[in-house]
Amino acid sequence: MRGAKRMNGSEEISNPFQPESARIVRHYDLIKDHRFFQIRHADVSRAMSFQYKPGQFIMLSLPGIGEAPFSLSSTPSRPGILEMGIRRVGKLTNALFKLRDNDTVYIRGPYGNGFKLEPMQERDIIIVAGGLGVIPLRSILYYVLDNRDHFDELFFLYGAKSPDEFLFKNEFFQIKDRKDIDCYYTVDNDTTGDWTENIGVITTLFDKLPDIDPSTTTAVICGPPVMYRFVIEKLLKLKIPKNMIQMTLERRMRCGVGKCGHCVLDNLYTCIDGPVFTYWDTLHFRELI
Ligand SMILES: Cc1cc2nc3c(=O)[nH]c(=O)nc-3n(C[C@H](O)[C@H](O)[C@H](O)COP(=O)(O)OP(=O)(O)OC[C@H]3O[C@@H](n4cnc5c(N)ncnc54)[C@H](O)[C@@H]3O)c2cc1C
Ligand code: FES
Repeated sequence: MRGAKRMNGSEEISNPFQPESARIVRHYDLIKDHRFFQIRHADVSRAMSFQYKPGQFIMLSLPGIGEAPFSLSSTPSRPGILEMGIRRVGKLTNALFKLRDNDTVYIRGPYGNGFKLEPMQERDIIIVAGGLGVIPLRSILYYVLDNRDHFDELFFLYGAKSPDEFLFKNEFFQIKDRKDIDCYYTVDNDTTGDWTENIGVITTLFDKLPDIDPSTTTAVICGPPVMYRFVIEKLLKLKIPKNMIQMTLERRMRCGVGKCGHCVLDNLYTCIDGPVFTYWDTLHFRELI
């Protein structure tokens, strides 16, 4: 963990709450009240050396307004710029939506465990994203595409409520043309009449998958709480082992570093032990998703 350091006698003390400044490089609306932000550390060498894993998050703050966790949607395989997709819900996000390019924000992190990438190597990957859950999964999606030789088949399943709520539409329809990924998109309802892909809840996409070899497949999931149970049922039906299903679980967070206790789930801190857990891990939780 990086933070400001001061000397106390011979002891060096690091302040985990000290943020670093970053600039907004580019921003644009994804859909109504959802905005994409690219930011870059003000210190260029720090920008280039900043390391993180898909599935990790940063704490982003504006002085005098607030601080909150946001998933990194960019991939570490493209260093220098950090990307986020942010939904406007309250005080901090309202203030963020008023910022312009080159304005300053403050960040600390990266935090959380991120996806376990090593056990995924040389295996088929199924990415299942629902709604806003595609924001953190976009990171692993591009990570796998950028390191394509290290993984076998890649299946990307993404569902939104309607075409108007489908995030990253342009780029996801562009990658659909690639030969090294199978993309399956769906909306619950087509409100526009222009939708050319599947209509139905995300689980209907599983019927379209080719035969999967469960012994060589890993799945990653992120979406609204209601989605997990039904998607996991489908994955278990495909006989994917419980420890090969990785999912992100969000809890309210304040400190991000295991100090405040806001994110406790059973005896675990989701900010440091999570937010990524395997389905196998969660079977031992009293309170689930
Ligand atoms: C690990 C992690 C990753 C996250 N990644 C993203 C992301 O990529 N994009 C994104 O838009 N948001 C993300 N969030 C949620 C984001 O941190 C909150 O929406 C943020 O607190 C909003 O701050 P605010 O001051 O604008 O809203 P507030 O004024 O704090 O809250 C506004 C409303 O949202 C509710 N709320 C706040 N936080 C949460 C929460 N965590 N869960 C459910 N309801 C909440 C409040 O109860 C209130 O009704 C993430 C949260 C976690 C824990
Ligand atoms: S957010 Fe403070 S302990 Fe996890």
